[in-house]
Amino acid sequence: MAAPPTDYRSRSLYTRALDVLPGGVNSPVRAMHAIGRDPLFIERGAGAEIFDADGFGYVDYVCSWGALIAGHAQPDVLAAVAAAAARGTSFGAPTELEVALAEEVAQRMPGVEMLRMTSSGTEAAMTAIRLARAHTGRDRVIKFAGAYHGHSDGMLAQAGSGVATQAIPASPGVPAAIAAETVVVAWNDPEALAQAIAAQAPAAIIAEPYPANMGLVPPADGFLELLRASCDDCGALLILDEVISGFRVARGGASERSGVRGDLVVLGKVLGGGLPAAALGGPRALLEQLAPAGEVYQAGTLSGNPLAVAAGLVTLALLDAAAYAALESTTRTLAVGLRAAAAGRPVSVQWLPGLLTVFFAQDPPADFEGAKRCDLDAYGAWCRGLLARGVYPPPSQFEAWFPSLAHGEAEIERTLEAARGAFEALP
Ligand SMILES: Cc1ncc(COP(=O)(O)O)c(C=O)c1O
Repeated sequence: MAAPPTDYRSRSLYTRALDVLPGGVNSPVRAMHAIGRDPLFIERGAGAEIFDADGFGYVDYVCSWGALIAGHAQPDVLAAVAAAAARGTSFGAPTELEVALAEEVAQRMPGVEMLRMTSSGTEAAMTAIRLARAHTGRDRVIKFAGAYHGHSDGMLAQAGSGVATQAIPASPGVPAAIAAETVVVAWNDPEALAQAIAAQAPAAIIAEPYPANMGLVPPADGFLELLRASCDDCGALLILDEVISGFRVARGGASERSGVRGDLVVLGKVLGGGLPAAALGGPRALLEQLAPAGEVYQAGTLSGNPLAVAAGLVTLALLDAAAYAALESTTRTLAVGLRAAAAGRPVSVQWLPGLLTVFFAQDPPADFEGAKRCDLDAYGAWCRGLLARGVYPPPSQFEAWFPSLAHGEAEIERTLEAARGAFEALP
């Protein structure tokens, strides 16, 4: 597919944007600083493809950062959203579809009996932590370096995703007293975990079961089981943040795939089918501590928004056994093909169904420090090469690729050809 010889309209839109949006974007990673270029402005998407403001098409591996597991403008999703919109876009009162979505999630996710919906994963993770603190009467929370749980104050310490991409260790503006309540431990490090627990008596351990915000860095054998056992021993709650892995790595997310259950699970992205929806799930005994059933306060004007719930329900209906088999096969073919395209360069590929990262390192990293040692300049140059060849990768080493159900053989072939060209063009 044609490579963009220039990006006149994107550049002029970016110039305009810089006057009215900080950094020209509404979320930092979109700025593409980490791969050494300015952002492309996107006009529309269809299936696996997006088209920029200058009319160039790209096979999209960002897919709204994983929200679009069925691809762009999927007809069933569009029809459901249009039908919901025609009935009214928001009521601030309960609707039947919210109940149906909670029932569907409870049926899919091991350990989830009830759901509290929010508009973003940030809010859902923040609420999970508040609930864990209320339940245990403790304040400290253990999180892992390189994991991202949204941008609430306490969760920005050594966070992955955009925080890592910008190389910000912690954000200014977070009160020291709040930062002190977060204890950061290296991922896949049992000794550091044991020490932190012994020193802190935490309210919760929060973890991405398959961390994907430092690139994809799966747990070492037994590490998730260790998290579960450690929480049981010390009386903390295990919060599994499945905003990325939920409904992606398996029908019931990482909780199903790994067999390890959290006390609370945080969901987002796929749950809203490309519209803003996220949720906190868990057993009745915990969830009913939330207001108005209990005293732990949480609320939201647009929580359980009818359009988002309609999109989420249709998206989940598309995710049957055949869909997961297709997603796994697509991701495997891509992973094997990308590794081969590197033709002996020091590049490794980690993958799970619907998720992959091409690391510019001989061996895949086991933790955030390892991810930071990758050749970030080479990754950036390769990504610029992919964009020039009609493939849109996540513009940061500290992110995962999100192949969707709309990525078929033609898109994979196009991707691998672009990948070979972009590798060959590297110095
Ligand atoms: C694992 C994880 N948790 C939480 C969040 C925050 O979700 P949101 O961007 O909807 O606030 C993200 C976002 O990428 C995420 O990847």
